[in-house]
Amino acid sequence: MKVLNYGSLNIDNVYSVEHFVRGGETLSSSKMEIFSGGKGLNQSIALSKSGVEVWHAGAVGESDGEFLLRQLEEAGVNVSLVAHTAGKTGHAIIQRDMEGQNCILLYGGANQEITKEQVDQAMSHFEEGDFLVLQNEINEIGYIMEKAHEKGMKIVLNPSPMDEKIGTYPLEYVDYFLLNEIEAGDICKENGSGEELIRKLSQKFPGAKIVLTLGGDGSMYKDGEEILTQPIYKVPVVDTTAAGDTFTGFFIGGLMRGENPKEALDHAAKAAAIAVSRAGAAPSIPDRSEL
Ligand code: RIB
Repeated sequence: MKVLNYGSLNIDNVYSVEHFVRGGETLSSSKMEIFSGGKGLNQSIALSKSGVEVWHAGAVGESDGEFLLRQLEEAGVNVSLVAHTAGKTGHAIIQRDMEGQNCILLYGGANQEITKEQVDQAMSHFEEGDFLVLQNEINEIGYIMEKAHEKGMKIVLNPSPMDEKIGTYPLEYVDYFLLNEIEAGDICKENGSGEELIRKLSQKFPGAKIVLTLGGDGSMYKDGEEILTQPIYKVPVVDTTAAGDTFTGFFIGGLMRGENPKEALDHAAKAAAIAVSRAGAAPSIPDRSEL
C-alpha cells in the first residue's frame, strides 16, 4: 500500500517580526530565511518520515523549484510525478512573530497549473486501497478526487487553506477529514464547541472518519459513535509553521502502518510538538525515531 500526495510545493520566505505588519504600516524584519514548504510538500515529508511509501505529485517552475524536489528525495519521497511548468514555483511570504506564531501570504504559481492529463498519468500508478492525500493549495482537486474514487483509493482531505472552492468538491468521497475548528465551522456552516462540530461533520459525512485539531486544546477523532481525544505535548514554541502538516502526515502514516487511531493520534501529537520547537516548515519535521 502506498500514498499519493497531490499537493503544493512552495518556497517559504520567512521574515522574523515583532508583530504582524498592519494595513498602511512599513515594518522592518530582524531576519529573513528561505525554507522549503507548501502544505503538500510538508505533508509528504511527514508521511515519509512516519515510515510509509510516498509519491508526491504536483508542479514546480522550470528553474526555481529544484531544491524542493531534492528535499523531498532526501526524505525518501518519489518525485517522478512532479511536473515542471514554464512559470514560477509557488511561494509563501511568512511573518513569524516573537511567540512563533505566523501569518502567511501565498502565491500559487505552478501549484495552480496542474492539468487533467497530468492527473490521469499520475493516477495510473495507483490502485484500490492506496491512499490519496490532498490539501487545498492546487487546482483540479475535484477532478483528482473523482479519479481516485473511481479507483477505490482512500481519500484524505485537509481542506486548508479554506476557501469557497471546497464546497464544489465531491466531499462525499472523503474517507478522512483532517481539519481545524474554523474549517469545520465553514463546512458545517455553523459554529460550536469541538464536540458539537465533530458531531455535525459526522452527520453530514456519515462515511468519513474525522480528525478535528483544536490548537492548544489538542485534537479529537470520530469514527462512528466513538470519539477519542488527544492533548498536545507542551514545548517551548519556536515556530508553529507546518505543525498541522506534521500532525496530518504522522496520523495518516501511522494508520497506514497499522497503528490504531489512538496510537496514531498520540504519535501525530508528539511529531507536531517537535515541529513547533524548531524553525521552518519542512526542515522542522522529525524522523519517527525522534518521537
Ligand atoms: O502549513 C504551512 C505551509 O503553508 C507553509 O509551508 C506555506 O508554504 C503554506 O503553504
